[in-house]
Amino acid sequence: MENKFPILETDRLVLREITPEDAENIFTYLSDKEVMKYYGLAPFQSVDEALDEIAWYQSIRENNTGIRWGITLKGKGEVIGSCGFLNIVSQHFRSDIGFELSKDYWGQGIAQESIEAVIKYGFEQLNLQRIQALIEPPNEASQKLVERQGFIKEGLLRNYEFTSGKFDNLYMYSLLKEDFEN
Ligand SMILES: CC(C)(COP(=O)(O)OP(=O)(O)OC[C@H]1O[C@@H](n2cnc3c(N)ncnc32)[C@H](O)[C@@H]1OP(=O)(O)O)[C@@H](O)C(=O)NCCC(=O)NCCS
Repeated sequence: MENKFPILETDRLVLREITPEDAENIFTYLSDKEVMKYYGLAPFQSVDEALDEIAWYQSIRENNTGIRWGITLKGKGEVIGSCGFLNIVSQHFRSDIGFELSKDYWGQGIAQESIEAVIKYGFEQLNLQRIQALIEPPNEASQKLVERQGFIKEGLLRNYEFTSGKFDNLYMYSLLKEDFEN
C-alpha cells in the first residue's frame, strides 16, 4: 500500500484521512444509539473511545489490513461519517467493507456516493477480487445500500458474532471485481 493517504473526491464529497482532531465529530455519531443499532459495538460514551477508534483506523492501515476514509462535504472540513475496508486478507484478494453516516445526513445518497468511490478504489488500486459486507438482517438501510451497488446476498451466517451479550446472525453479501467491471 502506498504511504500517502489517498484522498478520494466525488461530486459532493471529499473522502480523507481521519486524525485525532476529528474525535469530537466522530463521537457525535458513534455515540448515537440509532447509528450504532446494528454496528456490533455499544454506543460510545466518551471521546476517548472515539480516539481509540481513530487509533484503530491508523493501525489497520499501518499493518495493511484496512483503510478508513472520513466522509466530508466539499468545502466543509467536518467528518460526517466514515467508510472503508477492514479484515483485508491479501493472499485471497478479499476484504470486508464498513460504513456509517451521521443521522443528520441519511437519505441523501451520501453513503451511496462514498462507497461507490471506495469500491472503485478497492478493485482498481488495492487489486481486490472480492468485497464482502456482513449485515444484520434487520439492518435494511445497509442492505439497500449494498444491493444498489450490485452486491449479492450469499446466505445467512448463523450466530456469527457475539456482541452486547448476544449472538447475531449476519447476511454475507459480496461483490466481485468481475461484477463491478460488467
Ligand atoms: C447504512 C447507512 C450509511 C445508509 O445511509 P443512507 O443515507 O440511507 O444511504 P444512501 O446514501 O444509500 O441514501 C439512500 C437514500 O437517499 C435517497 N437519495 C436522495 N438523494 C440521492 C442521491 N443523489 N443518490 C442516491 N440516493 C439518494 C434515496 O432515495 C434513499 O432513500 P430511501 O432509503 O428512502 O430509498 C445509514 O443508514 C447508517 O449510517 N446506518 C447506521 C450504521 C450501520 O448500520 N452501518 C453498517 C453496519 S453493517
